Amino acid sequence: MKVIIVGAGGHGAVVADLLHAMRRAGADLELLGFVDDGASEGAMAHGLRVLGGVAHLGTVAHDAIVVAVGDNRARGRIFDAARHAGERFITAIHPSAVIAADASIGNGSMVCAGAIINPGTIIGPNVIVNTAASLDHHNVVGAHVHVAPGVHTGGEVRIGEGALVGIGAVITPRRQVGAWATVGAGAVVVRDVKADDLVVGVPAVPVRRPIT
Ligand SMILES: CC(C)(COP(=O)(O)OP(=O)(O)OC[C@H]1O[C@@H](n2cnc3c(N)ncnc32)[C@H](O)[C@@H]1OP(=O)(O)O)[C@@H](O)C(=O)NCCC(=O)NCCS
Repeated sequence: MKVIIVGAGGHGAVVADLLHAMRRAGADLELLGFVDDGASEGAMAHGLRVLGGVAHLGTVAHDAIVVAVGDNRARGRIFDAARHAGERFITAIHPSAVIAADASIGNGSMVCAGAIINPGTIIGPNVIVNTAASLDHHNVVGAHVHVAPGVHTGGEVRIGEGALVGIGAVITPRRQVGAWATVGAGAVVVRDVKADDLVVGVPAVPVRRPIT
């Protein structure tokens, strides 16, 4: 399968490494390179060639893409536009991730090294479950969410579309994080978080955006 990575930034590097690891583990993958509107065509990034801007997807033969952009709104916009244009998406799962047999991972989502996804958990499309994050049983994670490195959730947690759960945060069982909310790095969520809210601290409390 010929794959193009959308986004040649830091998360692009992580996803390129993830796809190389899948290939070494036996997946039938050929990495054609990156497309990125902010990088120069022909340049090398993370050992792969930049094929051009996102519009180049229409000119380079490929089977699937993955949108390796950290910002949730940008990743969501690119994913939705590509889907409407008829693109197919690879679901990228690092060989070291541990995923329960009955968990489901949405189209185009990225499950990074060392992540753990427990039974009954449902992950939507275009989600990042980043390095060493763990999602316990029966979580429901909406489209375009980013679960950052080292996050841990309890059972039956729900994370709404587009939310960012920052590095090392903890979400206690049965809590809900609303759509496009942000949980600050290191926060411990013990109450539901409303849509679009920003919460920080232990226990996590809402603060205005920006904090200062
Ligand atoms: C919470 C967050 C969104 C705030 O960002 P911001 O609005 O740019 O805030 P600033 O960095 O300007 O900090 C403003 C104040 O909030 C404090 N603050 C920032 N992040 C905080 C956090 N996670 N927990 C507690 N306090 C925090 C700062 O110390 C600062 O306090 P001060 O005014 O007393 O000095 C950000 O710090 C964060 O945690 N982002 C998560 C990033 C992440 O995990 N991304 C995934 C990468 S893979």
